Amino acid sequence: MKWTRSLPNLCALVLTASLSSSYIYQGPEDLRIQTALTLQNPSNGVSTTPEGRLFVLFARVDGSKGPQVVEYNTIINTSVPYPNAEWNNYTTGKDPATHLVRTNSQRIGPEDLLWLVDTGSPAFGAPVIFPNGPKLVSVNLTTNQVQRVYSMGNATLSSSLLDDVRFNPASNKAYLTDAGAPAIIILDLCTGATVRVLVDDASTSAYMPVSAEGNLLHASGGMFEHIYADQHEVSPDGKYYYYQPSNGGMSLIPTAALDAAFYNSSMAQVLSDYREPFALTPSTGGTAIDAEGNIYSSDTDNQSILKIYPNGTKTLLCQDPRLLWVDAMWIDTQKRLWMPAAQLNRGQPFNNGTSYVVPPLHVFTIDIGVGPSLIDHA
Ligand SMILES: *[C@@H]1O[C@H](CO)[C@@H](O)[C@H](O)[C@H]1NC(C)=O
Ligand SMILES: *[C@@H]1O[C@H](CO)[C@@H](O)[C@H](O)[C@H]1NC(C)=O
Ligand SMILES: *[C@@H]1O[C@H](CO)[C@@H](O)[C@H](O)[C@H]1NC(C)=O
Ligand SMILES: *[C@@H]1O[C@H](CO)[C@@H](O)[C@H](O)[C@H]1NC(C)=O
Ligand SMILES: *[C@@H]1O[C@H](CO)[C@@H](O)[C@H](O)[C@H]1NC(C)=O
Ligand SMILES: *[C@@H]1O[C@H](CO)[C@@H](O)[C@H](O)[C@H]1NC(C)=O
Ligand SMILES: *[C@@H]1O[C@H](CO)[C@@H](O)[C@H](O)[C@H]1NC(C)=O
Ligand SMILES: *[C@@H]1O[C@H](CO)[C@@H](O)[C@H](O)[C@H]1NC(C)=O
Repeated sequence: MKWTRSLPNLCALVLTASLSSSYIYQGPEDLRIQTALTLQNPSNGVSTTPEGRLFVLFARVDGSKGPQVVEYNTIINTSVPYPNAEWNNYTTGKDPATHLVRTNSQRIGPEDLLWLVDTGSPAFGAPVIFPNGPKLVSVNLTTNQVQRVYSMGNATLSSSLLDDVRFNPASNKAYLTDAGAPAIIILDLCTGATVRVLVDDASTSAYMPVSAEGNLLHASGGMFEHIYADQHEVSPDGKYYYYQPSNGGMSLIPTAALDAAFYNSSMAQVLSDYREPFALTPSTGGTAIDAEGNIYSSDTDNQSILKIYPNGTKTLLCQDPRLLWVDAMWIDTQKRLWMPAAQLNRGQPFNNGTSYVVPPLHVFTIDIGVGPSLIDHA
């Protein structure tokens, strides 16, 4: 009798102990990892210019207020709203076409422009504001003025989460992921016309909710949190587009097939036949691609960064207890990988309105010995 009564308790103890030690990586710290920025609020993306300018995106999942996009001065550790205060000061009633409603990603592109992906939805899970809320904004880094606004109202649904952008300079197309309604959006950068493809395809959908620090994420209200087409990259030769939902499972498709589908709706209907599995990635916070076509992918469950070779083989780049939900990564001309440890899973959207984010937050770097893909950014 004693046996059968004590057994369940023992099991529970063993289970708890193994969960906390195997899924949340305890250490040691990796001495190659340097602290580049110390912040009070989570950042889900940074980008740098070869001259050393630095732009930082704040996710505001901790409930903090303030600018979404800033230019950061690393000498004195202060920042100014970018491109200016008013673009960063959207409130209900202001024109969503000329304000950042909720920016989900930022990056410098192959030209000297900073690109901002605005979901157009004022809060995580809130409906998109049509027609001008969802948009892609380019900012000229010479004039520090908005250069062009691509309205994405025609390419998004009410439940969309316009997530991220990559470029194919050869065809002058941009590819955007929709993490709220599974699809890839192809944008012609000349005309501004858009086409939604791979809609509700297995490769853009999420077969599981996202997992971080060992637990599946929940949206406010308690439902499991599925985050659809999210991380993506274009190969340095421009031939392949890699993409995945946030819970992992990366596919690839030739950019020629994507671009053909832009002009040919019959092709768009059969596009799924042109994709292939590429790598079984885990739940992922963000990716980056280097000049040799290696993809770096952050594992949100166990504080590690994977390096995936162009042939799809995965290796471990680094693992460190500080790498808590590393979001969109960035490779600079000094051959460093920037890793913003955003603790996103601890934020309000995934904890029924309460933030468990623990400041200070850090953006880390690690030397990878390879620079950025030149069609991605200088
Ligand atoms: C700025 O922040 C970095 C990274 O946290 C730190 O190493 C540096 O000492 C700070 N500089 C100043 C002037 O506070
Ligand atoms: C934001 O806009 C409001 C209303 O236009 C204004 O009162 C406030 O001072 C602005 N805040 C910033 C930081 O610019
Ligand atoms: C940025 O603005 C400058 C000055 O107007 C212009 O010469 C340059 O072509 C613009 N950059 C891009 C990438 O369009
Ligand atoms: C959106 O669609 C409408 C109606 O077809 C069209 O008039 C408008 O130009 C489109 N906008 C964009 C940005 O493509
Ligand atoms: C979320 O919080 C609300 C109150 O803010 C509460 O009514 C609801 O039960 C909570 N849901 C869950 C799943 O905890
Ligand atoms: C359009 O795509 C369909 C399906 O792949 C293909 O059969 C057709 O030849 C394409 N049309 C043109 C003009 O390329
Ligand atoms: C990280 O966790 C995943 C499962 O989520 C596992 O497949 C992988 O081997 C782990 N990596 C390391 C370096 O522990
Ligand atoms: C994939 O590429 C890496 C790096 O070149 C190499 O080490 C590995 O053996 C390759 N794997 C396969 C299965 O060819």
